[in-house]
Amino acid sequence: MEKISKKVYIETLGCQMNKSDTERILGILSHFGYLPSDENKADFFMVNTCSIRKLSEDKAYSKLGVWGKMKKNNPDIKIAIAGCVAQQEKESLLKRFPYLDLVFGTHNIYELPELIKELETQNPDGSRKRICAIRDKAVPEKEFNIIRSKGINAWLPIMEGCNNFCTYCIVPYTRGRERSRSVDVIINEAKKIIKEGYKEITLLGQNVDSYGKDLDGKPTFAKLLAELDKLEGNFRIRFTTSYPTDITDEVIETVKNANKICECFHIPMQSGNDRVLKAMNRRYNRAQYAQIVNKVRTQIKDVTITSDFIAGFPSESEEEFQDTLSAIEELGLDYSNTAAYSPRPNTPAGKMVDKFIPADIKKKRLETLNNVVKIASKKSNEASVGKIYEVLIEKIKEKDIKNGSKRIAEGRSRNNKVVHFESNTANVGDFVNVEIKEALLWCLKGVEISSQSKKETVVLEAAK
Ligand code: SAH
Ligand code: SF4
Ligand code: F3S
Repeated sequence: MEKISKKVYIETLGCQMNKSDTERILGILSHFGYLPSDENKADFFMVNTCSIRKLSEDKAYSKLGVWGKMKKNNPDIKIAIAGCVAQQEKESLLKRFPYLDLVFGTHNIYELPELIKELETQNPDGSRKRICAIRDKAVPEKEFNIIRSKGINAWLPIMEGCNNFCTYCIVPYTRGRERSRSVDVIINEAKKIIKEGYKEITLLGQNVDSYGKDLDGKPTFAKLLAELDKLEGNFRIRFTTSYPTDITDEVIETVKNANKICECFHIPMQSGNDRVLKAMNRRYNRAQYAQIVNKVRTQIKDVTITSDFIAGFPSESEEEFQDTLSAIEELGLDYSNTAAYSPRPNTPAGKMVDKFIPADIKKKRLETLNNVVKIASKKSNEASVGKIYEVLIEKIKEKDIKNGSKRIAEGRSRNNKVVHFESNTANVGDFVNVEIKEALLWCLKGVEISSQSKKETVVLEAAK
């Protein structure tokens, strides 16, 4: 195909999986002459959408509206919608948004070259092509460049899709059934990431513990982690998301013994009440969740455990909601993402219309929940004071103060806490040992003690 130079702007909404997809889409488009650009210079606009809540879906539509207005003055621009909303709404989007040129779903990314080629042709009557490409099953992955966002963290998808069908959730419908990438493909991608200089790799999957169940030989997530840990280089590994009862002893053991895998688990609980958990079709109760958390905590020193909670699930009573609050306190969850329940099309909970909780009550519960999360976060941060954390620097800020400027390094500890400290020498991408002196609500402040690795510091401390 003839190379033309065009400029593409992609607005990415939603989870890390979407961010990773955008990096892949940009890579594919670059093979066809489309270079990433700022929004005000682009001639191809794409929104990579999220459908987890109505609010995220609406954000996508308002973006399309802005570009639709631009198209009135500049009819040559192309507008596309990708991701979970595209997968969910399909052709109806072409009808609803007359200025839209391309709709493609989460399973069609590797089909983009053909779609782009077709988009650049015209209909026999000379009118512009409008395409909707949605599949039920993913087209196989092909090798293309990946245009990763700059920085020190790289996303690395290991599996996609979900077989769990929690009653509130759209993801199984928008991402399909669980599919794992092969160990070789993942290892090779990890090696490239390290070679490019990234210092942190985050392994992505809707349920990372389901990794490998669909592959020949059934490699486990723990095995994959162990293989990645063996790779040479100075880098860290993180992973998300863990389904509570799918976390195996082997995974806990692997994280405990590894060098590069960070001590951090994101284990969404969703509710602290057994009846609500059942109505959500979560496969555990409060006691089983607590058991997992305690097991992880006892095995892995300084581990951070974060969670997700939904306030106002259909039929949730005030007392049941209180169980969520008490769970956060009782289990000492370090941080939690929260959301008010949002009905999603065609999901079982979305059909429980007569059990919906009124918006004002959901709002109130969400506020209460957020306050409890805040208190838990502060408490967790306070427990870090006096500890020595290995911090990977992500940003350097010059802070103006009365008597000159201060150089503040900002990064994250292995257990994923944001740490700020003053330093004249630390640079982005450095690993620095920091003694924590002060706990704020969402971050920690400390002083630099050395640039040795955490293990060396531990040895030094033992020798004292
Ligand atoms: N795979 C992960 C969650 C992915 S979705 C897991 O199993 O936990 C991310 C979070 O969005 C969920 O944990 C849930 O808390 C929230 N969420 C999903 N559907 C929602 C809905 N309909 N309304 C409100 N929050 C929702
Ligand atoms: Fe959604 Fe449940 Fe699957 Fe998580 S496990 S993606 S919440 S259906
Ligand atoms: Fe949203 Fe789809 Fe991710 S619904 S949270 S972008 S998997």
